[in-house]
Amino acid sequence: MGAGKSTGARSLAAALGAEAVDSDRELERRLGEPVESFFDREGEHSFRAREEELVVELLARHDAPVVALGGGALGSERVREALTAHTVVHLEVDPEEAWRRASGKGRPLARDPGRFAQLHGDRVALYESVADAVLPPGDRDTLRRALPALRALESAPPGTRLVWASAASGEYPVFLGRGLIEASFVYPTDGRRLVVTDENVARAQPFEGDEFVVVMPGEEHKTIHGAEFALRALAQAGAERGDLVVAVGGGVVGDLAGFCAAVYQRGIRYVQVPTTLVAQVDSAYGGKTGVDLPEGKNYVGAFHQPAAVVCDPAALETLPPEELSAGYAEVVKTALIAGGPLWARVRQGGAADAAVILGCIRTKLAVVAEDERDSGRRQVLNLGHTVGHAIEAATGYARYRHGEAVAIGLLVALRLSGRDPLRSEVAELLAAHGLPCSFSGASTDEVLELVERDKKRSGGRVPFVLVEAPGEVSPGHEVQPGELRAAVEEVNSG
Ligand SMILES: NC(=O)c1ccc[n+]([C@@H]2O[C@H](COP(=O)([O-])OP(=O)(O)OC[C@H]3O[C@@H](n4cnc5c(N)ncnc54)[C@H](O)[C@@H]3O)[C@@H](O)[C@H]2O)c1
Repeated sequence: MGAGKSTGARSLAAALGAEAVDSDRELERRLGEPVESFFDREGEHSFRAREEELVVELLARHDAPVVALGGGALGSERVREALTAHTVVHLEVDPEEAWRRASGKGRPLARDPGRFAQLHGDRVALYESVADAVLPPGDRDTLRRALPALRALESAPPGTRLVWASAASGEYPVFLGRGLIEASFVYPTDGRRLVVTDENVARAQPFEGDEFVVVMPGEEHKTIHGAEFALRALAQAGAERGDLVVAVGGGVVGDLAGFCAAVYQRGIRYVQVPTTLVAQVDSAYGGKTGVDLPEGKNYVGAFHQPAAVVCDPAALETLPPEELSAGYAEVVKTALIAGGPLWARVRQGGAADAAVILGCIRTKLAVVAEDERDSGRRQVLNLGHTVGHAIEAATGYARYRHGEAVAIGLLVALRLSGRDPLRSEVAELLAAHGLPCSFSGASTDEVLELVERDKKRSGGRVPFVLVEAPGEVSPGHEVQPGELRAAVEEVNSG
């Protein structure tokens, strides 16, 4: 209720040259009276039976109308079954906005705010279970703009889901499903495909394209020199403005290829095809691209949103186990930021499956949608990173992978947050996934000095991200030097 289904269906139908049918309005026409009076007189059971008949009939029509479904229609097993043959779009709306739009109009289930919120929560899980596509709250034309991507779903492997990402500087579809890489699925479909990948990925996860740029693997090649190599290869391949850079690989390839796409001929489109867990849950989304300088990581870069992200969890099957572990630290970080169902799932301790990856994607996209340029909310994504970066730097970027250092940084952040039971639970989770809970090879002083340098860079403040509880994470906290020293000392195994 109140998500804008009727308006969305009309705009989509107009774009398709099809008819839009609103199941509530159609039901009223057949009943010969408003839904409210029928509902109040005959009761919900009777209403649902009539609704089920109608919706199943509408879904069997061959003239393919766009159907705006009544909010409760999915309660019927028959309706859910009939929907499997169709593309189902879930238009998200937050409960407060839905109440604002739906209340005061006599709707039988929108009369009491408490009951309404409860119903909203119960139904969301049902919607998610059948949705092929999820569109965040947007303007009335989002559905129409998403239409080409919705149509592209038809040529994607069965079971592929679409999540619509929107940020201030642009919007794009995220396709998530097994088999996308094997099918070399790319969206948008126009333009030549210039695949940028690294040697390991080219061997493990071959991807079809028109031209290939294969860079050396590893952070040490995410440099201006690496970018020059890739840019010149693009130029030699005759890449033009209408072409598409397809970045197939982990965060290194994604950041490097995204940066090249941002600056090549002042910017061409690129698609992220993330093949590591870090990239699938984090780095492929949000449009931060760049390369390192000897003076600092990610010191040169640009914001450049991808044209699409194509995420295939099957790619993780060839990933070395230590890389999978490193990515798991970002999963735990994201689940702490999200709280709710994602944290509930992650704390059970299983491997990061498609549902966990989806939860992480949506969390990251929601954070970026609020603050693309990192001026406020987006800083929560740095949870565990201040000390994590310092540990990486203090050990010469050689001893710990980024994710491993973040794991240790998370434990420091949770101690500084004063959340000791949560810290113990997270420590167990990290250890069970092969991640370190302490570091060696650098002194506490060296790590603190590097944190201090971070502080100088950000104008004298110690911008710590702290955790009140899963789902309640906030940036910009000052911490006392003594507390910080003790928290770092605790994870220094010497
Ligand atoms: N842009 C962002 O928002 C953002 C966010 C987080 C991290 N990052 C960046 O991401 C980078 C780290 O990314 P990463 O952890 O993915 O590392 P990575 O790209 O170096 O990949 C790790 C290793 O796995 C190999 N590999 C990748 N996919 C494989 C597969 N499917 N099968 C076999 N081998 C495979 C790679 O060749 C590499 O050797 C860092 O540079 C970091 O700065 C960026």
